[in-house]
Amino acid sequence: MSGPRVLAIESSCDETGVAVVVGGRRIEANQVASQVALHAVTGGIVPEVAARQQLRWIVPTLEAAFQQSGVGWEDLDAVAVTHGPGLIGSLLVGVNVAKALAVTHDLPLVGVNHIEGHIYANWLTGAAETPLPAEPPFPLVCLVVSGGHTQLVLMQDHGRYTLLGQTVDDAAGEAFDKVGRLLGLPYPGGPAISAAAVGATPATRFPRARTAGPYDFSFSGLKTAVLRAVEGYRARNEPIPIDGIAAAFEEAVVDALATKTLAAARDHGVAAVALGGGVAANAALRHSLGQRLRAEGLPLLVPPPALCTDNGAMIGAAAGFRFAAGDRADAALEAVPNLALPWLVP
Ligand SMILES: Nc1ncnc2c1ncn2[C@@H]1O[C@H](COP(=O)(O)OP(=O)(O)OP(=O)(O)O)[C@@H](O)[C@H]1O
Ligand SMILES: [Mg+2]
Repeated sequence: MSGPRVLAIESSCDETGVAVVVGGRRIEANQVASQVALHAVTGGIVPEVAARQQLRWIVPTLEAAFQQSGVGWEDLDAVAVTHGPGLIGSLLVGVNVAKALAVTHDLPLVGVNHIEGHIYANWLTGAAETPLPAEPPFPLVCLVVSGGHTQLVLMQDHGRYTLLGQTVDDAAGEAFDKVGRLLGLPYPGGPAISAAAVGATPATRFPRARTAGPYDFSFSGLKTAVLRAVEGYRARNEPIPIDGIAAAFEEAVVDALATKTLAAARDHGVAAVALGGGVAANAALRHSLGQRLRAEGLPLLVPPPALCTDNGAMIGAAAGFRFAAGDRADAALEAVPNLALPWLVP
């Protein structure tokens, strides 16, 4: 396949990702060093610990990516890196390594927004997949659901984003993690709740939040409702039906996400709906949203679970399209913890 071959680095949070991606689509290597086991001990991410682990793993992960792809520096057209949003210490590791590599190997540098990466995971395909699958069609609505974000994004073309709505409090992944902790499940809560909920009958029906904006979300009330339910069982000296509460919580989150996403897709006459971010790995969400969209004749695009959570390949995908559009960064590229996408005015 043709197109620029990009070395992409992701270090915004607690995963060290390095990938080689061609033409913004084809993955030649994708290596991820995860800190999940380490943060499970503290039940969450300690930013300084995450940054030190990024330093520890960046070089071995780079070496593993080169080994997997079999390419050398002379085969690369650019170096790309996530420069925000994320944790400052973690971001600084990737940004500075990428800058140093670009300068020392005389390669152009491309700065990528992490959320744009989550969206572009939908463009990725494996090294051996032939013919190349069709690209996602425009316009599309993407539901970005991750540890720090829950946003409904209308994408009219490459790099053209309108923010339709977002969470007014907790992100969906954050809610999964907090409720997981509340139920005594291991960190991270998302996969643990999802596993507990499989085959379980919901113990109750948690209320769905009302929001002012038609495409906004709110999950903090749901989290409090779970807490009250757990306290109720404790006060009555009854065993807590962990699996049933997990199922009821997951059902409420999935219902809210699917309902608003469907409304956004209908109202904007899109050609497809896409999912991105760690919570997009959730099987119940993929199933429920897929089913509801099918009834409307709309396709749901979902990256494989390993490309939903943080990885370098998604950064390489976004960078491929940015590079083709002439986007270049230089040694002044900064790590920006609260970096936003360049939203178009609706
Ligand atoms: N199967 C699953 N079901 C529900 N949630 C999941 C699942 N797998 C992962 N998650 C959640 O995804 C989140 C991690 O996603 P991701 O790595 O994209 O977040 P992040 O990079 O920390 O945040 P952001 O992308 O907003 O900066 C966690 O909150 C985790 O619980
Ligand atoms: Mg992420």
